[in-house]
Amino acid sequence: MKKKVAFVLGMTGQDGPYLSKLLLEKDYKVYGLVKRYSNPNLDNLKYLDIDDSVDLITGDITDDSCLNHLLKSIKPDEYYNLAAQSFVGASWDLNKTTSEVNAFGTLNSLNAIKLHNPNTRYYQAGTSELYGNADSSIQDESTPFKPRSPYAVSKLYAHWMTVNFRESFSIHASNGILFNHESPIRGKEFVTRKITDGVAQIKCGKADKIILGNLDAKRDWGFAGDYVEAMWLMLQQDDPDDYVVSTGVQNSIRDLLDIAFDAAEIKDWAGYVETAPAFKRPAELHSLCGNNSKAKNILGWQPKTSFKELVHMMVKEDIKRYSK
Ligand code: GDD
Repeated sequence: MKKKVAFVLGMTGQDGPYLSKLLLEKDYKVYGLVKRYSNPNLDNLKYLDIDDSVDLITGDITDDSCLNHLLKSIKPDEYYNLAAQSFVGASWDLNKTTSEVNAFGTLNSLNAIKLHNPNTRYYQAGTSELYGNADSSIQDESTPFKPRSPYAVSKLYAHWMTVNFRESFSIHASNGILFNHESPIRGKEFVTRKITDGVAQIKCGKADKIILGNLDAKRDWGFAGDYVEAMWLMLQQDDPDDYVVSTGVQNSIRDLLDIAFDAAEIKDWAGYVETAPAFKRPAELHSLCGNNSKAKNILGWQPKTSFKELVHMMVKEDIKRYSK
């Protein structure tokens, strides 16, 4: 039988490698788009031991002719748009790049599918950032969007364009509204990895403090390895739709610090943590927590990794890296 073909954009980030590993286990042929650099960073693919198993293609989501060409030649059954300027904190200074990649990159992807392979199923990496400071303490698919960063505004465009192609042209296009999801290959600019990496450095005598921004922010954090399964499940449904993917459990940055320092058996983190205005945002998003009932009921998906297990996994891996 012919192998199913998947095209994954965002291959050098966190989610692309986890998703590709899952697809390879399901016997897909996996093509991945990688931006042109003199030395592309394949560390995350190597960490999951799949760098030799995926077909990497140099290209760029902001270049529509490149996507048109690839859609015609690869003819993917499934197209996962995980390419993004995904760091909210940088999006105020990089608002144009963020918009070009996140908003127009999505439009380029959907146009290429419509023109060259309309049966390709499309996954759009949506985000809980869309909710902003929501009125309800728990957010679901019907909670109004109130984006508060250039990143979230760009993702709002991507969300509605995905819905629009589904409704206008019958493209099988789904939005995953993913709450924060982390792993040992999370970028160090994000707060979870910044903390687990910092704790590991302190434990191994390579640093003596971590400098952070707002310690009172609350998020619903899950494990990226669990969340990519929800992406795949969305494209296996008869009908496309939008789904919240979350754990339904909320923690603060202070809770994260408690667990991370405890995992390294270091007492009293207050002596190791400072705050600085440079790490605060022009418009903060104080509290997010997702209701994942729809994903549970329709996709049969549920998170397998608790917040404590996730933080312990990340601290352990970071300590291993610094102990070498
Ligand atoms: N990055 C960072 N660095 N965040 C800090 C720091 C710090 O030093 N100190 C406090 N924070 C707070 C931020 O202000 C924010 O409230 C929270 O920690 C989480 O920040 P990030 O880890 O950068 O993630 P995010 O919530 O802004 O966005 C992530 O999750 C979204 C899903 O909800 C990203 O992965 C987005 O791409 C994703 O869409």
